[in-house]
Amino acid sequence: MKVTVVGAGAVGASCAEYIAIKNFASEVVILDIKEGYAEGKAMDLMQTASLLNFDTQIKGSTNDYSKTAGSEVAVITSGIPRKPGMTREELIGINAGIVKQVSENLIKHSPNIIIIVVSNPMDTMTYLVHKTTNLPKNRIIGMGGALDSARFKYRLAEALEAPISDIDGMVIGGHSDKGMLPLTRLATRNSVKAAEFLTEERLEQVAADTKVGGATLTGLLGTSAWYAPGAAVSSMVQAIACDQKKMFPCSALLDGEYGMNDISIGVPVILGKNGIEKIVEIDLNDAEKAKLIESSEGVRKTNGLLEL
Ligand code: LAC
Repeated sequence: MKVTVVGAGAVGASCAEYIAIKNFASEVVILDIKEGYAEGKAMDLMQTASLLNFDTQIKGSTNDYSKTAGSEVAVITSGIPRKPGMTREELIGINAGIVKQVSENLIKHSPNIIIIVVSNPMDTMTYLVHKTTNLPKNRIIGMGGALDSARFKYRLAEALEAPISDIDGMVIGGHSDKGMLPLTRLATRNSVKAAEFLTEERLEQVAADTKVGGATLTGLLGTSAWYAPGAAVSSMVQAIACDQKKMFPCSALLDGEYGMNDISIGVPVILGKNGIEKIVEIDLNDAEKAKLIESSEGVRKTNGLLEL
């Protein structure tokens, strides 16, 4: 399995690193527009191979898409990250042109590729790839919910004073500070509802902290986070590469599911060798349904800024 990661910045490099460490891919090509940068990251990572015991070949390329030919999965991390105080939506002007061009170049050399979009505003960038390429909808997936759910579990574990391995929980909706919908009602500790251990106020605080998870890190780091985004996307690539049929909330193009059409937004999906094998429709209560609709309105507003 050959995987391409476009963008050798912090998220792209950490994604390539986790894919390599998990040792399931034969080759990872990192591509960047900055001369020599991807080659440097690839060489540095390859020099960890004997220390970390992986056999994945990591190669770098300065914008030569012929090197990506035959990739089964590509991750698009290109574009600018947000700075403190910025929303993900403010990045649309620059990132839309980049994501469109990158996806077209990838498809030229790997017509059957599965594309995972990480660049922000992620739901809108995923929608853009759906609108501007001929790939079937199961082969275009946005990375947001896997990361937001990991942040949700981190906050739940903190509130419950429990190890993270005890925790389960999921975040659906748009990948934005306002649009995220942490499903607190369904969160569990070893199959016991988190609500049995925490007050409603504490659970609401967990949800609020989760929603600003990315912004909190941007404030601390001066740029957006990379370890958890890289780990989240590497888990999605692994689910596809190893045909795991694993469930993640991902940004998927909806065609009637959850009563919505013509939008890409975070919902639970099954990831396997065909990309999105299935969109899972879970029973939401009325309040959750209303929040998901509200979240979709935010995503649609950002989609409206695209020049399609
Ligand atoms: C974040 C970026 C990747 O949430 O959107 O950290």
